[in-house]
Amino acid sequence: MTVVLHLKDVSLKKDGNWILKNINWDINKGENWALLGLNGAGKTALLHMLCCYYFPTKGEVEVVGRKFGRDVLGEQLRQQIGIVSSSLKQKMYGTDSAYQVVLSGGFASIGLYETPTEAMREKAQQILKDLDCFSYANRPYRTLSQGEQQRVLIGRALMNDPKLLILDEPTTGLDFIAREQLLTSIENISADEDAPSIIYVTHHVEEILPTFTKTFLLKNGEVYQQGDTADMINSEMLTTFFEVPVEVDWSEERPRLKKRY
Ligand SMILES: Nc1ncnc2c1ncn2[C@@H]1O[C@H](COP(=O)(O)OP(=O)(O)O)[C@@H](O)[C@H]1O
Ligand SMILES: [Mg+2]
Repeated sequence: MTVVLHLKDVSLKKDGNWILKNINWDINKGENWALLGLNGAGKTALLHMLCCYYFPTKGEVEVVGRKFGRDVLGEQLRQQIGIVSSSLKQKMYGTDSAYQVVLSGGFASIGLYETPTEAMREKAQQILKDLDCFSYANRPYRTLSQGEQQRVLIGRALMNDPKLLILDEPTTGLDFIAREQLLTSIENISADEDAPSIIYVTHHVEEILPTFTKTFLLKNGEVYQQGDTADMINSEMLTTFFEVPVEVDWSEERPRLKKRY
């Protein structure tokens, strides 16, 4: 089985504080994971480490077959990982068209500085069609709605056929209709035969789609629990995880969270 991600006893110290502690996590090819944790749990810090923006203070990190430390060049690694995050969203050039933003993913750059090949152009167009973005492909990025921008960024992340696709709270700022549309697109991407492994980061239990059969619960920078989603997302587990009495109802393979009084 191909290893997409292997973390062994990983810790990260920033400004004198341990923000990640003894993380062990393995992702095999074909697995899609939800990463659930409250604000400040360390989710984004963990993702930054996977993308080589942070180097682990302790432990071993291997992403898409590359061990950190010896042979890893951040640039090369990032060509094989697609990421969508709020910090990336803000970095895009507002005057670039949706099509240009998707194309720029082929170079893993912000903005287009190189001439895309014909194959890249065709691919970008296909991605825009697959993600239902084609009708606004030529509009400047800044004129797009939050939901449209988010789709375009996912398209950009897919340009290099990544082995790992990381979505860091992609539904932030979306109304519930745009949110469900985006989730449908994510479900469609995951159904593709050579889909990347997806890590879906959220603090909303409701967003854990059926494709996320594995769930990682992160709390205060530590692994709280990890395993099959059904064993993680239930009333008992989340009541202790959130330290608030909650009830989880499953319907149509989606969990709903309610506070118990
Ligand atoms: N570069 C950094 N320097 C110092 N502290 C950081 C840094 N990045 C994150 N932190 C701290 O680590 C904790 C986890 O942050 P973050 O990973 O953004 O959480 P989450 O994404 O789960 O909401 C927070 O307390 C945050 O302030
Ligand atoms: Mg975050």
